[in-house]
Amino acid sequence: MNVFSSIADVRAARASMTGTLGFVPTMGFLHEGHLSLVRRAKAECDAAAVSIFINPTQFVAGEDLDRYPRALERDLALLREAGVAFVFTPQAQDMYPPGFATSIDVGPVAFPLEGASRPGHFSGVATVVTKLFNIVQPTKAFFGQKDAQQCAVIRRLVTDLNMPLDVIICDTVRNESGLALSSRNAYLDEDERHRASLLHAALQTAKEYVGKGERNAETVRRTMRDMFAREPDFIVDYISIADPISLAELDRIENEALVSLAVRVGTTRLIDNMLVRT
Ligand code: PAF
Repeated sequence: MNVFSSIADVRAARASMTGTLGFVPTMGFLHEGHLSLVRRAKAECDAAAVSIFINPTQFVAGEDLDRYPRALERDLALLREAGVAFVFTPQAQDMYPPGFATSIDVGPVAFPLEGASRPGHFSGVATVVTKLFNIVQPTKAFFGQKDAQQCAVIRRLVTDLNMPLDVIICDTVRNESGLALSSRNAYLDEDERHRASLLHAALQTAKEYVGKGERNAETVRRTMRDMFAREPDFIVDYISIADPISLAELDRIENEALVSLAVRVGTTRLIDNMLVRT
């Protein structure tokens, strides 16, 4: 496995490769969710590549950029074992050299939910993902459904800018109590980690309600919100039932809906979601 920190080295490696390349962009501190994306990339393509870059432009002022968990040597060992062809570990000064000024705005899909709570976040994501795609030139790129709005943003970006690659969204990987795997789970203490399974329980309840015929979105939102009353120190940022493509909030649940939520557990902000079908 090659580890490249220079953009030129990645370009040279890609130019010398024949066949399809599956790409998994990450910010490191890898967990089973990332590794499941790598396995899928390897299964669907001739080779797989991963980037590890904590992208400063997607962190809003006051967020956890400085303390975001890092474990580069462990990550590289996991990726070597997974059979990745190369890992791209750029430096911020190479991705954003002096004079860098472009940013990508994908429009309304980035406005609600995470976009409302973290203004500018998706512009940072869209810009860095565009740069990574231009550098790595993958055939397919793999993202986790856990970041549902990020998936919607990247689909919009790839469609609108005619990027020549397929975006593949893979299922969320969860621990035994249902908590969605996330690098930020490292911030939770044991008690918080245990109680954070309430996010998944609330999503399951929404799914059950819809399965039993509930079509009023506000009834389902209210039921979910009420479940958080039993954890008064959890701060619910949003509970949303929205169209899965546009992310516009729904009054009635017909066909498919994206149920998503963001909750502050202690100092850690967790997100999760589930697609429900009538
Ligand atoms: O999901 C992430 O880890 C990041 O948002 C991504 C896609 C690697 C862009 O920095």
